[in-house]
Amino acid sequence: MDIEFVRSRFIKHFDGKTGNVYASPGRINLIGEHTDYNGGFVFPGAVDKGIMAEIRINGTPDTIRAYAIDKKDRADFRLSDEKPKASWARYIYGICKEMWKLGVPVKGFNIAFAGDVPEGAGMSSSAALESCVAYGLNDLFGDNKVSQWNLVLAGQATEHNYVGVKCGIMDQFASVFGKAGQVMRLDCRSREFEYFPFDAKGYKLVLLDSAVKHELASSAYNQRRQSCENVVAALAAKFADRKFETLRDAKWEDLEAVKADISEEDYKRAHFVLGEVDRVMAFSEALKKGDYEEAGRQMYATHEGLSKEYEVSCEELDFLNEIAKANGVTGSRIMGGGFGGCTLNLVKEELYDKFIADARKKYAEKYGRVPKVYDVVIGDGSRKLA
Ligand code: GLA
Repeated sequence: MDIEFVRSRFIKHFDGKTGNVYASPGRINLIGEHTDYNGGFVFPGAVDKGIMAEIRINGTPDTIRAYAIDKKDRADFRLSDEKPKASWARYIYGICKEMWKLGVPVKGFNIAFAGDVPEGAGMSSSAALESCVAYGLNDLFGDNKVSQWNLVLAGQATEHNYVGVKCGIMDQFASVFGKAGQVMRLDCRSREFEYFPFDAKGYKLVLLDSAVKHELASSAYNQRRQSCENVVAALAAKFADRKFETLRDAKWEDLEAVKADISEEDYKRAHFVLGEVDRVMAFSEALKKGDYEEAGRQMYATHEGLSKEYEVSCEELDFLNEIAKANGVTGSRIMGGGFGGCTLNLVKEELYDKFIADARKKYAEKYGRVPKVYDVVIGDGSRKLA
């Protein structure tokens, strides 16, 4: 994305003056889906695509003048008023309120932003916007005193309190902490994490975008989370002498012990989560040994679980996964929350061209449109550009 582009729109749209420019990326996740809000592990990396925003303090007590460059949409609102009508503006409003809670005296500002994270592709364009604004406000109003972790939590709280998605911390974490060329394995219970260089020699990571976006994704997402919480409540009731905060605290035999106390659906959801926690560990062991074939098998197993047990796939994503298998792709799976978006594919370089051509052809024959293809480049996290 081009800083001059954002700058020119900011100048044109407001009073001709420039502000500071900040950027935050979207993310991929190698493995570990729906494990973040269950206290498990995730394996994300920031991408080279994201949100760029120019921000300038405007001297008003709490009036925000916001311009979404890509949508050509303007929203002016006050932080003392109700949340704005435009859904994109709620992210900005929410972040301001969450920064207040962290003691940052946010006052009025002008903001214009643009992005190149494809919306609805499961690469977290919303977390990129939240992190970008949080980072900028911390710089402009807070002397950068708010820690990176608190910026992550402010983004997550914005989703919970102003957007209505009860998400975990993976997306905002990756957007804030990302580093070029490095993926991160995060333990969402302890919040400890490690950077891992990702240089699978002879392989490529590529996203195929189904271009499907399900309207009810956020309520379906919240229902998945509710299922997990139901199982945790059943575990806590059964084992009064043990502490169950999330499904991470449960062993396989614990889940079996409460099977009769929970619904079949909740059992299936929890069964997926326990399996996924194990798969992340198997995947990182495989990465350490450079065994990408084993890592790929774990990815396929995740797809299967997301599709059959967690039920967050759709026909189009399952179809893309089948095409990957038929082309000998090493690993392939739904990436992100599901209900549309992309598959992430780990593919040998020599198979890449044939796989992409075949996927385009077969997908277009069946659904009448060509899936978009994004080669994954692991980029940097939130930063100030100017
Ligand atoms: C969405 C949420 C994340 C995470 C993923 C699934 O991206 O925002 O917190 O739960 O889904 O892994």
